Amino acid sequence: MTNDDWARLVDTSDEWITQRTGIKRRHFAADDETTMTMATEAAASALKDADLTPDDVDEIILATDTPEMMTPDTAALVQNRLGCRNIPTYDLGGSGCAGFVQALDVARSRIIVEPKRIIVIGVELISRMISLKDRATAVLFGDGAGAVVLGPSGGRAEVLKVVSGTDGGAAEILTLAAGGTRNPFNEDSLASGDYNRLVMDGRRVFTEAVRRMSEAATDVLDKVGRSLSDVKLVIPHQANLRIIEAVRKRLGLAEGAVYVNVHDYGNTGSATVPFAMWEAVNNDRIHQGDLVVLTAFGAGFHWAAAAVQF
Ligand code: ACO
Repeated sequence: MTNDDWARLVDTSDEWITQRTGIKRRHFAADDETTMTMATEAAASALKDADLTPDDVDEIILATDTPEMMTPDTAALVQNRLGCRNIPTYDLGGSGCAGFVQALDVARSRIIVEPKRIIVIGVELISRMISLKDRATAVLFGDGAGAVVLGPSGGRAEVLKVVSGTDGGAAEILTLAAGGTRNPFNEDSLASGDYNRLVMDGRRVFTEAVRRMSEAATDVLDKVGRSLSDVKLVIPHQANLRIIEAVRKRLGLAEGAVYVNVHDYGNTGSATVPFAMWEAVNNDRIHQGDLVVLTAFGAGFHWAAAAVQF
């Protein structure tokens, strides 16, 4: 879905979207795809890449704000579709685009308590959850999924440390309230259009995103006794090119030190970080021995950063 495609549907232009966000195109799921099918495909390709089978998986943690249904969780459906044993699964829902890095933290901690293999998935099918008539938010987003397999040893990379934080006082700057108990889904929310109205204070989100992603990145490096000069690549949440550029400048990094693919995919929520990491590995931007920092922010307001040693 290109910017020109959008300009045929709502009052916008390639110029406006490109200047404000850097996004040129995004991808929308096909009618026969759902959050569960996208997540399952990502998980299956992560398993294949790790030379493992569904039988080898001990747990699934799935981060999404756009679940398959209200209940049960999407992770349970993925377990069945993937053909895993009756292992525990759970969703980390509602923490928006920070969800994948937070889930990485939860998975890492659980593996320290008890050695096991956990699939961590970030997935969003946002195009079916927000109003495609609301030009102010709809043009920013795309659908996507990414996954990693985490285990106690022997992988391609080690998650050295994750830091995260939440400011629930800023919850109102990014919400989709309808469908919850405060504003249940009913004829009123249907008539008013509330059921898919994403409410966003774009400027505050922008400011908070830059501050929190930058601080989290330096914080996680401090905690592992490393500095930005040791880092090969920073992979930030891909919400918007201007946010990414502001983070890069605040951290004093050169252009090539920060991974960007928002122009091709838009903001795919909790999928941006695993997806960008996969792309960076496949595009030869990450090599064995490289220190990589993942940093993300999302509705909540949450933020999280991980130091990953390849
Ligand atoms: N096309 C054309 N005009 C538009 C569009 C559009 N798609 N959307 C809004 N406008 C108009 C508005 O109606 C408004 O018009 P008005 O001034 O006549 O009222 C005007 O453009 C707004 O312009 P600005 O305020 O200058 O827009 P700004 O530079 O603040 O950019 C943006 C808006 C892109 C949303 C910016 O605030 C932003 O990037 N914020 C961060 C948003 C974000 O990334 N959120 C993350 C999503 S969730 C997550 O990742 C956790």
